[in-house]
Amino acid sequence: MAKAPIKTDKTPVDLLTAKQAAAEYARLQGEIAGHDKRYYQQDAPVISDADYDELRKRYNAIEARFPDLRTFESLSLKVGAAPTGRFKKVRHVVRMLSLDNAFAEQDVVDFVGRIRRFLNLSETEKITFSAEPKIDGLSMSLRYEDGELVTAATRGDGEEGEDVTANIKTLKQSEVPHRLKGKHIPKVTEVRGEVYMTKGDFLKLNERQKAAGEQIFANPRNSAAGSLRQKDPSITASRPLGFFAYAWGDMTDMPADSQSGMIEWFEHCGFKTNPLTKICHSVEELIAFHRKIGEERAKLDYDIDGVVYKVDRLDWQERLGFVSRTPRWAIAHKFPAERATTILNDIEIQVGRTGSLTPVGKLEPVGVGGVIVSNVTLHNEDYIKGIGGDGEALREGRDIRIGDTVIVQRAGDVIPQIVDVLIDKRPKSAKVYHFPKKCPCPLKTDVVREATSAGEEGARNRCTGEFACPFQKIQHLILFASRRAFDIEGLGEKQIELFYENGWVKEPGDIFTLKARNAKIKLEDVEGYGETSVRNLFNAIDERREISLERFIFALGIRQVGETTALALARGYGSWKAFHDAALKVAKGDAETIAEMDALDQIGETVIAAVAAYFGESHNKGIVERLTREVKILDAEKPKTDSKIAGKTVVFTGSLEKMTRDEAKATAERLGAKAAGSVSKKTDYLVAGPGAGSKLAEAKKHGVQVLTEDEWLKLIG
Ligand code: IVH
Repeated sequence: MAKAPIKTDKTPVDLLTAKQAAAEYARLQGEIAGHDKRYYQQDAPVISDADYDELRKRYNAIEARFPDLRTFESLSLKVGAAPTGRFKKVRHVVRMLSLDNAFAEQDVVDFVGRIRRFLNLSETEKITFSAEPKIDGLSMSLRYEDGELVTAATRGDGEEGEDVTANIKTLKQSEVPHRLKGKHIPKVTEVRGEVYMTKGDFLKLNERQKAAGEQIFANPRNSAAGSLRQKDPSITASRPLGFFAYAWGDMTDMPADSQSGMIEWFEHCGFKTNPLTKICHSVEELIAFHRKIGEERAKLDYDIDGVVYKVDRLDWQERLGFVSRTPRWAIAHKFPAERATTILNDIEIQVGRTGSLTPVGKLEPVGVGGVIVSNVTLHNEDYIKGIGGDGEALREGRDIRIGDTVIVQRAGDVIPQIVDVLIDKRPKSAKVYHFPKKCPCPLKTDVVREATSAGEEGARNRCTGEFACPFQKIQHLILFASRRAFDIEGLGEKQIELFYENGWVKEPGDIFTLKARNAKIKLEDVEGYGETSVRNLFNAIDERREISLERFIFALGIRQVGETTALALARGYGSWKAFHDAALKVAKGDAETIAEMDALDQIGETVIAAVAAYFGESHNKGIVERLTREVKILDAEKPKTDSKIAGKTVVFTGSLEKMTRDEAKATAERLGAKAAGSVSKKTDYLVAGPGAGSKLAEAKKHGVQVLTEDEWLKLIG
């Protein structure tokens, strides 16, 4: 049932025979890897930091005495392992977002074109960009109050990071000043940028680590991250880390009106900014910058994985705004992906939350772009056969066989993929892969192949077990408790599997009744648990009895409803009751409610069909009902009330002259209104430019107020 107890052989490492050492090294490797997973991925350690350190120390000592034991699987070669200790969480006042990626030059052309269209700029009007290297380190937010450094926080999930202030304060003040220089410092200043380690320092650190029998890092980025996540700041102090400032968060005053002005101001405050940063005025200059930096990349003493282009004018940045989690005004232009050759040892099947069967390639581990890759998604049956989603040949039709030599590619933070198969190297023993006809789940249900329309990713095979399939139920519970959904600390994959297999948690609502049922379950008696960890778990569950509407909708695991869609639904309906009522009506095929949902921004047919399927299923209705008894769902963020259009629904039609349709919609949303795509009786205003057609007629039919563009601009001030 539960986990294996922690065993440490007490024979001193110096006295171990080679055979004993090999056995213990392998055992410790598995045990430590398990603890790392629980700590890093599930946030649910089952041993103390001190016990963990003991295991690790012994592992390192064995490896130092018997270096031949080291293999690709060695923890010392793994990414992100090792630091101990936990940090306080810090909520970012201004979210830390990420960047959209461009790989091809055309992506850059499109990026600039989108900006031009959004801002309604003529072809001759110049857009100034700040072009900067994309430092491959760790993003950091430094908060200064009255000029004093008060908090240093990691990015985390963008909304909440970890408080690493004590560690950041060990960096040289020429990298991160404790007090900002200069006059007129805003009351609150948040400087954001990248913590990094130079390549030279990384190599030196690894030499020292090796000599001391300590962890070896895979790349400078990991060594910077590992150095910062030390519980003991004196260790961070011994690691040379640098910082480049390039962005900001919460600011009570803005000392400049451009990106380049802000960068200059950071320098006055005592920060380093990247010396290669350059002002560019055209797509050609941006692309030339990318080429030049790409050529210089190897000579730089720090790792970069691309360049970043940012619209320089901050008023334009503000107008451009964001699309879900990435700004419209910036893009990362990545360097070409790195590749490596390895062997495909096996293909395994993973059953996802919605029953889709995904083949996963098990590779002979190989280093690609500084990371060791041993698993790679093979997407679907057709992909293995060499057929693309549109029916066209992939890899010139070459199929993938077990035993093949394959080329693996990884671009930055993108998941690795197989780009080609080396047919010349195909051994006679290579095995053609036959997709299973039965699901690997205990039900062994039939697998059906879903029809796909042209242009989709490819044909999905699905387990037909649906609500009876334990794999799907477990996957849903994992999503439900995960960071992006209910974010229940201490309830990760392993715990959910354990609870499910014992019948303690069969569906989401059960999580919240666990405490009340524990008199019978007696979780504290389960191996790996104790009174403290059980108490911590129940506290973590109780902390999540209140949840935002968007997280709740996302956590239901409705097909097609990811975080962005959940947010759009939450904003569109405002409350759980409103959404739930609408969803039930949609499931019954109510045409008016369907049209209303369809009118919401970012919601279309596919999502509506998925919502209908979910809420039309009586089993799901029961799950939702039992769950909503246990939790309080908060209304979606209230629209801004200080604007005249807050809470109103607006539709734009015809051609607008002062701004583009996209910008008009984004502005309406910023002011708390809902920008819908079609007119219904719930529409408050139709803003109609010249050439308005059927929507105008529709508005008249419903008695919706019609405004010209100027009237609209006057209304919003
Ligand atoms: S700007 C709103 N500028 O890249 C976006 N990011 O993929 C703010 N990064 O999390 C980020 N160099 O860690 C920006 N010159 C640069 C950067 C940079 C590296 C990292 C940063 C961010 C990630 C986004």
